[in-house]
Amino acid sequence: MDRIVIEGGARLHGEIGISGAKNSALKLMAAALLTDEKVALTSMPRLADSRFMAHLLARLGVAVEEGPGSQMQLHAAAITDTYAPYDLVRKMRATFNVLGPLVAREGRAKVSLPGGCAIGARPVDLHLKALEALGAQIELSEGYVEATAPKGGLVGGEIELPFASVGATEHAMLAASLARGESVIDNAAREPEIADLADCLTAMGAEVEGAGTSTIRVQGRDRLNGVTHPVVADRIETATYALAVAAAGGDVVLKGARWEHNKVLWRAINDAGATAEAVEGGVRVARNGSTIRGVDIETQPYPGFPTDAQAQFMAFMATAEGTSVVRETIFENRFMHAPELARLGADISVHGNEAIVRGVDKLVGAPVMATDLRASVSLVIAGLAAEGETVVNRVYHLDRGFERLEEKLTKCGAKIQRLSD
Ligand code: UD1
Repeated sequence: MDRIVIEGGARLHGEIGISGAKNSALKLMAAALLTDEKVALTSMPRLADSRFMAHLLARLGVAVEEGPGSQMQLHAAAITDTYAPYDLVRKMRATFNVLGPLVAREGRAKVSLPGGCAIGARPVDLHLKALEALGAQIELSEGYVEATAPKGGLVGGEIELPFASVGATEHAMLAASLARGESVIDNAAREPEIADLADCLTAMGAEVEGAGTSTIRVQGRDRLNGVTHPVVADRIETATYALAVAAAGGDVVLKGARWEHNKVLWRAINDAGATAEAVEGGVRVARNGSTIRGVDIETQPYPGFPTDAQAQFMAFMATAEGTSVVRETIFENRFMHAPELARLGADISVHGNEAIVRGVDKLVGAPVMATDLRASVSLVIAGLAAEGETVVNRVYHLDRGFERLEEKLTKCGAKIQRLSD
């Protein structure tokens, strides 16, 4: 099993190119099921998760080709199977989003209940509620969801989400694009990935209005056309490298990063005493010897502080002056990195959904274990800031969501390498 070895203490200098967003890419790939024409996605991140989604789509009949460059072409000329088995769904929650497109196009589908990171219960009730509002009949049995559209296909409907779930909003948009008439999604999630999906579906011929606000209207079509669509820049990868620079020190321009997608994070970084500023073509983050102060954060749906950057922020706060409180409100079990950070000397106590981080003078390298995708990268950040050697085990979690991580960091002067047994 691969592991990552970091010799901490090097400052980071230079440029890091930000990849397309994993979380957006996976839903855009699902959108390819909605049309018999070609969908070409550019700026596609090459990740274990996108390969996994491609594998599932291929099983359903989609021709998937990678390249040239960071392009992926998907062609669902005909859907040959509407069954997504447990083995292809359990590893990654986003695969569940094939259910709506399959029912919308083929009238029925059977998809296993999903898996994904072990960060909470993460049910799919809201996804199913959304599909029911479009007329689908849902049956659950033996770990599978079987959905059937009414005769004549899905019909536009009113979808009211009790919680602004990202996945359920996207699922509803995908299915509604191929439903008859208008659908309205109330209390929709507002993440930039939702706007990205809306742009793609609109270019495919659906009419999607209001993405980025809490009310989204989708005018469905009988058929959708192909598209070439660039995947939006990854705001979580952006946040991760920004926090790596803020924790380890240095001066780096994050090329292609979208300033407007991480405003709360930039404020927190600046409040702590490092620098984040918008520059031509990206964001510059710097810390040149300044002391870091403790800053409190609370995760919230967008535009609040992203839960997917919480672990990385905690690693940054580990050596801040004073205390910071990190409150997690999206997932109930998302502090698994805290004991691992403590192995490097961090002083963190967890009380329910609150972690109290008392800044220490320095972190010292140690062997640690990755527990989920974002937690694992927080250990890399801590390792970069620590004195001595840190070994991060179980890095397959990292490979799910970070493209060429070691290469990007090495180019900026980090001493980091991957070892395979
Ligand atoms: C997406 C992101 C994930 C991110 C999360 C929140 C992808 C592939 N993943 O996950 O990286 O951390 O948004 O920004 O895009 N919930 C329910 N019932 C449902 C759906 C969700 O109770 O049917 C709950 C979940 O258990 C969780 C909360 O809602 O507590 C947030 O989930 P949601 O916004 O749906 O996140 P995901 O789409 O799973």
